[in-house]
Amino acid sequence: MTAELVCFERACRRRFPITEVIYECPSCGGLLEVEYPELHLDAGRLKRLWRERRTENAPIDRSGVWRYRELIPFLEDYGSVVTLGEGNTPLLDAPKAAEYAGLERLTFKHQGFNPTGSFKDNGMTCGVAQALRLGMRRVACVSTGNTSASMTAYAAAAGLEPIIFIPHGNISFGKLAQALEYGARTLQVEANFDEILALVRSLAGELGIYLLNSVNPFRIEGQKSIVIEMMDQRDWRAPDWIALPGGNLGNTAAFGKALRELSEHGFLEKMPRLAVIQAEGAAPFYEYMREEGRGGFRPVAHPETLATAIRIGDPVSWPKAAFEVRSSRGVVEKVSEQEIADAKAVIGRCGIGCEPASAATLAGIRKLRQAGVIAPDEDVVGVLTGHLLKDPDYVYRYHTGQLVTPAGVPVRGAFENRPVVVAKDPRRIAEILLAETLS
Ligand code: F0G
Repeated sequence: MTAELVCFERACRRRFPITEVIYECPSCGGLLEVEYPELHLDAGRLKRLWRERRTENAPIDRSGVWRYRELIPFLEDYGSVVTLGEGNTPLLDAPKAAEYAGLERLTFKHQGFNPTGSFKDNGMTCGVAQALRLGMRRVACVSTGNTSASMTAYAAAAGLEPIIFIPHGNISFGKLAQALEYGARTLQVEANFDEILALVRSLAGELGIYLLNSVNPFRIEGQKSIVIEMMDQRDWRAPDWIALPGGNLGNTAAFGKALRELSEHGFLEKMPRLAVIQAEGAAPFYEYMREEGRGGFRPVAHPETLATAIRIGDPVSWPKAAFEVRSSRGVVEKVSEQEIADAKAVIGRCGIGCEPASAATLAGIRKLRQAGVIAPDEDVVGVLTGHLLKDPDYVYRYHTGQLVTPAGVPVRGAFENRPVVVAKDPRRIAEILLAETLS
């Protein structure tokens, strides 16, 4: 199988060997993507094969990424694959969230069930496999938290040296704790995500590091499996909508590429529409798409949101994301801190839970439903990108009435659930419990 790196810019389209260590097109600076020019797939046969692999014990078949390797065939041999059992994340019915959004039915694909608790694992197993194939020893990323946790875990398992750059004071402790425990050389830089990414991209060559941000096209290849697995779990019935949060926009790029490739190779009968949701204080992609690209892409210099995972003002993958949203006849929406916080609590009350950025999905679906963009009987899958325990501090503040937006506005917890401190007094405990019931 031939795989090549291709410049994503339509006016350029220069091609490079798959083993070249580049993160952008050397001639025009465009994003790169992996292409398989001679790929011919038999959809019927693969659907059966992929289903059979679920029952195998070989780690590569059990992986919810590598099981679908015929659609991500950039390696010549699979000896360099390090898997932690990524993917295999459930599709969960969420009737309470459906009711909240005004839909008849809503399912969540919960990427928080991954080994490090976020969707980044789907991409990282591929990025690290490519690092090993290239003979790189040190891998690095700039991260709002999840990428660094994931990269460090896979690098540790692969025997590589992980280096992470994170915005000082603006990542959740759950994520930082993971990176420290898995053994990352950790630099907390006094700058925001966008500033650090620009800095590290310019230093990558000099430091001899292999960059595993989502600008790395092999990460995108792995994240395609989120959509492939979703369709497999739905017996290849495409939903009307797939909703996901947008930060650096790598996942949007990956979802769109997966949908196009699945459809091109005859796996899908219809194309779902993508709904990308951004936080109000970090919504440059929303603004760009609202103006249909007329004003050019204008980064937000000081992005702010309590959903720190998507606190990004200059998303690297916006050209790919714009293309994919348009190809899928998709939409982009933005939601407030209050909307994210309440949606998150509702997802919690479904017994599911997620981290703040993930809840932008439900908040956005609800807003699009209210605006009449999504119809009540449409088939919607919301992607929850990270686990509830990634950011316990946010959860505690919300439920105890202490959550305050970056602008200093208190978030009113409509679904607040305050713990009660009580003395060792059976009468008092009985009194409290007989007086109150949780709505
Ligand atoms: N949800 C979560 C939980 C994330 O961690 C991220 C991104 C996103 C959504 C947005 O995805 O960037 O592909 O549009 N987190 C990155 C990180 C930036 O460093 O962990 P995106």
